[in-house]
Amino acid sequence: MNIRTVSTQAFTDQKPGTSGLRKKVKTFQQPHYLENFVQSIFDSLEGYQGQTLVLGGDGRFYNREAIQIILKMAAANGFGRVLVGEKGILSTPALSCIVRKYKAFGGIILSASHNPAGPDEDFGIKYNTDNGGPAPEKITEAIYNRSKTIDAYKILEAEDVNLEKLGSFELGSMTVQVIDSVADYVELMQSLFDFGSIRQLLTSGNFRMCMDSLHAVTGPYAYALFEQCLGAPAGTVHNGKPLEDFGGGHPDPNLVYAHELVDILFGDNPPDFGAASDGDGDRNMILGRNFFVTPSDSLAVLAANAKLVPAYSSGLAGVARSMPTSAAVDRVAVSEGIDCYETPTGWKFFGNLLDAGKVTLCGEESFGTGSDHVREKDGLWAVLFWLNILASRKQSVEEIVREHWKTYGRNYYSRHDYEAVETLEANTLMENLREQLSTMKGKQFGKYQVEYADDFSYTDPVDGSISQNQGIRIGFTDGSRIVFRLSGTGTQGATLRVYLESYEPDSTKHHLDPQQGLAELITLADEIAQIKANTGRDQPTVIT
Ligand code: G1P
Ligand code: ZN
Repeated sequence: MNIRTVSTQAFTDQKPGTSGLRKKVKTFQQPHYLENFVQSIFDSLEGYQGQTLVLGGDGRFYNREAIQIILKMAAANGFGRVLVGEKGILSTPALSCIVRKYKAFGGIILSASHNPAGPDEDFGIKYNTDNGGPAPEKITEAIYNRSKTIDAYKILEAEDVNLEKLGSFELGSMTVQVIDSVADYVELMQSLFDFGSIRQLLTSGNFRMCMDSLHAVTGPYAYALFEQCLGAPAGTVHNGKPLEDFGGGHPDPNLVYAHELVDILFGDNPPDFGAASDGDGDRNMILGRNFFVTPSDSLAVLAANAKLVPAYSSGLAGVARSMPTSAAVDRVAVSEGIDCYETPTGWKFFGNLLDAGKVTLCGEESFGTGSDHVREKDGLWAVLFWLNILASRKQSVEEIVREHWKTYGRNYYSRHDYEAVETLEANTLMENLREQLSTMKGKQFGKYQVEYADDFSYTDPVDGSISQNQGIRIGFTDGSRIVFRLSGTGTQGATLRVYLESYEPDSTKHHLDPQQGLAELITLADEIAQIKANTGRDQPTVIT
């Protein structure tokens, strides 16, 4: 066995963001760049000798090369076994499921989620711990610190492993097991939902659905679930073949990037239900006939209807949402008498709450919902959850959401993104906001009076760890809110996210378009943060 120790020089920019390290492919292709980061991960872990690692990615450009490098490094560093998805493919929730099911030491996911793929686009790498969830900040910080001083890495000299064929192979003294990318995940889904009723709905002849996988990782999973197990007609899954460049698209399931699906659901004779997922399969968008469900509302509807799903029939332990997510789910929690937690942006903050059994469902406004069945958000799980509700309530998506608003009131909600802003300008804008915070309370802006203004800080109720500077919140006395934060997943300049929310209890006022319903707050956000003046942008790049 030939293990090589390769001398290297540290890179200064390997700080993991909201969800792992994301950079342009060209950055990852620099000599030693990926290797340094992988060795920094291994060097930050203890006790993995002889243990199992799970490895897979969303199939984007550079996935295959990266997998071979990581396999050889895992072998050189002493892992006992690596479970790797066939062709190097594993969706993020499937990897989480497999880590848990096979009690692996951890997992490595290769993905830049919804960011475009291709030689000039993005790549990413993320480490998950043995609970199947993203490594907590103390580990990602250790990885970053190690990456700043690393001077060597270990790699096995060997032929590439054939990932086209299921089976076990020896790589040095480590076993590589090429596993079916889909089977374990499908089995888990079958254990959670009422597949019998969903099958009845999908084969009844008077219900049509359309699932858009956007040429990203969920294609094979969606075919297996909807067309094979649940009997939906062939053609239900659109864009189901994963492509290395995602067909040149932007696999972000929202109204802007999943426009093909939006055109179908808002076109002539639309199907009853439409859904899309993102690059690595953890996000989802839910559409009804001529109807869009905001992710914040979706989380609230799932929570309110959870008892209809076999896995959650005895009720929820609690719910959690990220801070910028609307408070729609909070209202369900109050009515159900369960706890609701507000965490910083990023799935890693839900892990402790789920592990401690404090929450069952959690979600983010960024098209992410999930539960304690894995430790990642899960796009197809959310789609199945909706189908289970539709099968059981026998109402349309729109009827279900409108009834929900009637019961709980409507949280008008929208996110405005200003992408690829100059980093300096974005930082100045945030600094200026921070300086205003201490004098904001009580200030009147038109009909809005500031009730609180702060930079969100979170103390984890399980381990007591504190995460500061998680976004600026300005809350008004009528329950409206504006939140400002900078993205931690972008790879170019800075992305300013502005989150707008207002609460409307009166059901005669639930018919507005959110941009209309939020118009005054939108103007106010610019007045307070001076977005136009600071960034030179007249309008957001993306509105969701
Ligand atoms: C974005 C989303 C966040 C999500 C993350 C990873 O992070 O806003 O909710 O967890 O992607 O999918 P951001 O770019 O805002 O830091
Ligand atoms: Zn994703």
